Amino acid sequence: MSPPYYEQLAKWTEFVPESEIRRLLLTKVKYYFGGGKPGSLPIDAFKKILYQIADELDMDGIDVLNYGPTSGTFSLKETLEQRMREKDGISFPKGPDDILISTGSQQMLYGLLDVLLRPKDVIIMSRPSYLGFVVPVTKLGGDVLTVPTDMDGIIPEYVEKAIEISQRELNRTPKAIYVVSDSDNPKGTTLPEKRRKKLFELTTQHEILLIEDSAYREIQFSEIPPPIKKYDTDNEWVAYLRTSSKEAAVLRLGYSVLPEKIMIPMIKVKGYLDLCTSSLNQKILEIYYSKYIDDVLGDNLKIYEERRDVMQKTIDEHFPSQGQRTNPTGGFFFWFQMENGKFDSSRFLEDVAIPNDVCYVPGQAFYPIRGHSISSYDSKLHGNRIKTNGMRLSFSFTTPQIISEGMEQLGKLLQKEA
Ligand SMILES: Cc1ncc(COP(=O)(O)O)c(C=O)c1O
Repeated sequence: MSPPYYEQLAKWTEFVPESEIRRLLLTKVKYYFGGGKPGSLPIDAFKKILYQIADELDMDGIDVLNYGPTSGTFSLKETLEQRMREKDGISFPKGPDDILISTGSQQMLYGLLDVLLRPKDVIIMSRPSYLGFVVPVTKLGGDVLTVPTDMDGIIPEYVEKAIEISQRELNRTPKAIYVVSDSDNPKGTTLPEKRRKKLFELTTQHEILLIEDSAYREIQFSEIPPPIKKYDTDNEWVAYLRTSSKEAAVLRLGYSVLPEKIMIPMIKVKGYLDLCTSSLNQKILEIYYSKYIDDVLGDNLKIYEERRDVMQKTIDEHFPSQGQRTNPTGGFFFWFQMENGKFDSSRFLEDVAIPNDVCYVPGQAFYPIRGHSISSYDSKLHGNRIKTNGMRLSFSFTTPQIISEGMEQLGKLLQKEA
């Protein structure tokens, strides 16, 4: 018999499923293209930084090993401000205090929703979307409204329709639009400049917050357009989320540029979530961003780029021609979609791929558990739409050899389904 408290846990525990990725992380196969973790890290630079910090502990150990300000260490925020100003053209009307440091950018996504959502508030996002954002919207009582994507990512014309339809048919102006502008998770797409400008226009015109999640901004193999945040010179309309996790996941350090009206409640929420982010980790990141990143990141990027190239080539050689892949110019992922809409990548994973030593993340994981959608064929409001024919393939963690063999193996298996 289970104890009575077990029957009375919070309502969300009854409808929020276990994360598909967390489950797949435990899968042991030779050809693993599941979780999106970094596979190339600046280890030597971090060794040097750790020695430097060990020396500095004599001087300011009491601060480095202590609690710090909830919003983050000021000197780290200064370093990040300078980098984002110089590299991305972002404006900081209030200087470093426009930045909030978090324990991973995941904490920011969850905290933002906690600050923003009233029951049934509508959040617009792409279909598919990063599952670490999609599911918390529903968990926290919001209403997901998805719009179609193509090989360039979210399509602003559908976002515009979604805003109108939400106002007309759901009687609510959406609270926020969520986009992963650079090397999206899961599709690997990067938004063209024109779409970025249009999204910013929609945001200001309809007075809706834009949540720009730029987790893969530093993992780029060629030049990409500036962040949407660049247009938000008064820091009013875009909550801009970045993270160092793709360069050093262990630090669990996110950093966001937030409008002042959101910053104030966000600091309160963060205080309740963790009081503050690790001061030691912030010190490590500050040294990395101020002294090392530009010298060492390039080597890691070359490794990722080679892996991307090998995956691209082997998909093109071995996967069915009745399917389509995206064309990532950075980040960690390809998305492959079978033409046959009835293909079920989840079933195929369990029944065929894993028994043959291959693992990927089925596309279904990136769709909401409930909500509304705008369809591409009639641009009308529909219920939740889940497509089963896509899969996310991560190239970040495995060697070119494994990628090449694994893609050939998976391609041969998929050919039988085409
Ligand atoms: C698009 C996107 N946003 C946010 C996150 C969360 O990153 P972090 O490790 O900084 O919490 C991830 C992690 O994979 C991601 O892919």
